[in-house]
Amino acid sequence: MPNIVILTGAGISAESGLKTFRDNDGLWENHRLEDVATPEAFARDPALVYRFYNQRRVQLLNQDVRPNAAHIAIAKLQQRIGNKLTLVTQNVDNLHELAGTEDVVHMHGELLSARCLKSGKRFVTHDSFDSNARCECCEEPAGIRPDIVWFGEQPMYMDYIYNKLATADWFLAIGTSGNVYPAAGFVEVAKMAGAKTAELNLDPGANDYMFDYQQQGLATAVVPKFLSQFK
Ligand code: APR
Repeated sequence: MPNIVILTGAGISAESGLKTFRDNDGLWENHRLEDVATPEAFARDPALVYRFYNQRRVQLLNQDVRPNAAHIAIAKLQQRIGNKLTLVTQNVDNLHELAGTEDVVHMHGELLSARCLKSGKRFVTHDSFDSNARCECCEEPAGIRPDIVWFGEQPMYMDYIYNKLATADWFLAIGTSGNVYPAAGFVEVAKMAGAKTAELNLDPGANDYMFDYQQQGLATAVVPKFLSQFK
């Protein structure tokens, strides 16, 4: 069985009812990312940043937001091939986990987590919070921030991800527009390591010319079909 690295983006959760970033009516059409998703924005107007992520957390916890057939197909693939699959996601939702996938690598952080501003310690939280919230880890309680990797910050787990890419036989990018690095560069790293590469997306991404194979369509249609070849 080949080593498979899958990278997912907002497109895989679109049919579950969560907005993508760059499509029509996407999150970045309604908010300037410079206002809500940078360390500078957080320093300038923390209330706006807390509110943006509180709203997204509430939307995620809406009962109607459930994993779709694409999340489930990935979870089933993991049940078949175990640690031959590495799932890296840029998404901050928990739909891969709800579908049953284990060891999801959240390179851009998680909505259902907060981080102590002083120690960096991470906490699971389903609640809204703001600048009045205090951490529980420090002697002199410090504030907490959304556990999200903002523009200008270093994505998480990069050593782990590059090690997996170095031994990948297949690299699949699902539901991502290929605009944001370093994730948009994984296809090139995987190719240099000798992997076959495929893009499964509604539209061709900005880096689509790098991929060996392309399947355009809704994630719920193309992902289960494509993954069925890995028996
Ligand atoms: N099925 C498959 N693909 C879809 C679907 C769908 N139902 N709906 C939309 N898409 C595709 C779009 O064609 C688009 O190319 O998903 C892609 C979503 O792209 P973006 O909105 O740019 O999301 P993503 O690539 O995940 O963004 C990367 O940017 O703002 C940051 O940190 C944020 O993690 C995010 C990163």
